[in-house]
Amino acid sequence: MEGTRMPSSHSSAPEGTKVFESPATLLPQPCQLVIFGGTGDLSWRKLLPAVYNLNVDGVLPSHFTVVAFGVPAEGTIDSDPDEYIRARARDGISRFSRQPLDEAHWASFARSLFFVQGSFNDTRAYEQLNARLESLDQQFGIPGSRVYYLAVPPGLVGHCVKHLQAAGMVRDPGDTTAFTRVIVEKPIGRDLESARDVNRVVGASFAESQTYRIDHYLGKETVQNVLVLRFANSIFEPLWNSKCIDHVQITVAEEEGLAQYDPSNGEIIATRAGYYEGIGALRDMVQNHMLQILCVVAMEPPWSLAPEVVRDAKVGVLNCLRPITAADVDTSVVRGQYIEGDVHGQRVPGYRKEVRKSFEIMGRELPKASMHSTTETFTCLKLFIDNWRWAGVPFYLRTGKRLPKRVSEVAIQFKDVPQILFNSNPDMQLEPTVLSVRVQPEEGLAMRIASKLPGPKIRIYPVKMEFNYASGFGASSPEAYERLILDVMAGDATLFMRRDQVEAAWQFVTPVLERWEKVGVRDLPEYQCGTWGPVEADRLIEPDGRFWRSL
Ligand code: BG6
Repeated sequence: MEGTRMPSSHSSAPEGTKVFESPATLLPQPCQLVIFGGTGDLSWRKLLPAVYNLNVDGVLPSHFTVVAFGVPAEGTIDSDPDEYIRARARDGISRFSRQPLDEAHWASFARSLFFVQGSFNDTRAYEQLNARLESLDQQFGIPGSRVYYLAVPPGLVGHCVKHLQAAGMVRDPGDTTAFTRVIVEKPIGRDLESARDVNRVVGASFAESQTYRIDHYLGKETVQNVLVLRFANSIFEPLWNSKCIDHVQITVAEEEGLAQYDPSNGEIIATRAGYYEGIGALRDMVQNHMLQILCVVAMEPPWSLAPEVVRDAKVGVLNCLRPITAADVDTSVVRGQYIEGDVHGQRVPGYRKEVRKSFEIMGRELPKASMHSTTETFTCLKLFIDNWRWAGVPFYLRTGKRLPKRVSEVAIQFKDVPQILFNSNPDMQLEPTVLSVRVQPEEGLAMRIASKLPGPKIRIYPVKMEFNYASGFGASSPEAYERLILDVMAGDATLFMRRDQVEAAWQFVTPVLERWEKVGVRDLPEYQCGTWGPVEADRLIEPDGRFWRSL
């Protein structure tokens, strides 16, 4: 029996209501999920807990294993490798899982979790991996299907796929007995050129139909709901254009910085500086997550829910983005880096200090360029989509680390009503109508509308109509990675980035990166931790007569 797509513990509609289910729902097929970098941070925090939750929900295929592949951070281990990964998975699940660790579910999950130690560039390791997978196929009754999840830095992707191919571990896409699929984690390259290289090298071993480029924001319930909001309700789409919309703001704000500290002694206990330094917010968040959200918000109605049709509609948005030239960068894009400041009354260090300390504890020499790092931890930009629907409508995007709180939302601000009737006093203009999609936390939707305050006079007050996922549907929404891993096992690529999407997104941001590289540290604004970014962010939007939303 294959898994079903309606997990029992997932949210449900109130009793008695009719639920529409997309006819195209595919089922996950028996396979082995092989996580390259299975001992790494992503696997520990997100991937293993995600698969554990799928197991709890009873939606995994009945014939299924997870095999971690890689080298533990502490070097080769002599004890039982399977027990090693099980202990690490258990730790990750108890800390990060959406649903608490339950002994019975854990035991059944652990029975299908294995570890093969080996380096990604060692031919023998692939032979061992292959032999183990074949023997697990026998043991678990799996027809030889594999999902290879490449949770590795972009520089290693090429090694992995070439070795897989050379070891005969990639099936032809037309093979009807079993499938091979590959999941490629972001970042896919660090600019257009290197992204093309990654795509080329993956494309040499895997067909596009076997390739799943993951952007976990596309798996978030609230992002998927934008499509439903727009195309399953008749009232929004007629308004969804430049005639009615004044502008759109997309914010992804994070409270965390690069490092995590032990509250008892202030020591760094985990750091992402090794990855983030030299990458920055534009590459880390805008090129992928934020442009993907933009695509969902701004795309034309696809004519069907078939993956390629939806993906065509999304890439259509990227293809219409007005290019930001080097000259535009100074007026349309702002960057910033956090400096020491207060977060919830606690003094926290600035970015450069955090990077220095992180490299120290990682035992790595600080690269010269990082001594006066120009890596941006905040960026905001104004962009335009040059098509009929969006002509002249600015989209403002902002994201940053060490901002006052973790909050992501898409806000659609509608045009002001004419300055007559209730809006005739220029000194007391009405608040505009805003539809906001709260991506996280407190997932939901809200509409701010003008309303009459009760009483004899006409006094107008903005009220909110709200829908909240937790109170509306109960239970916790599945994590993005849960949904996406299940989709790969089912062969549904709708929520994954196609090669042309990734390259179009890089094409858009690359001139900005080149400009910043040229100006270096000059004009790199700073902002204190716990604030909403540098003042320059306001200077991007306020001359247009608009303001960043207070969140
Ligand atoms: C990752 C970025 O892709 O997304 C991180 O590399 C960022 O820097 C994270 O913190 C945010 O994801 P989420 O789901 O916590 O909003």
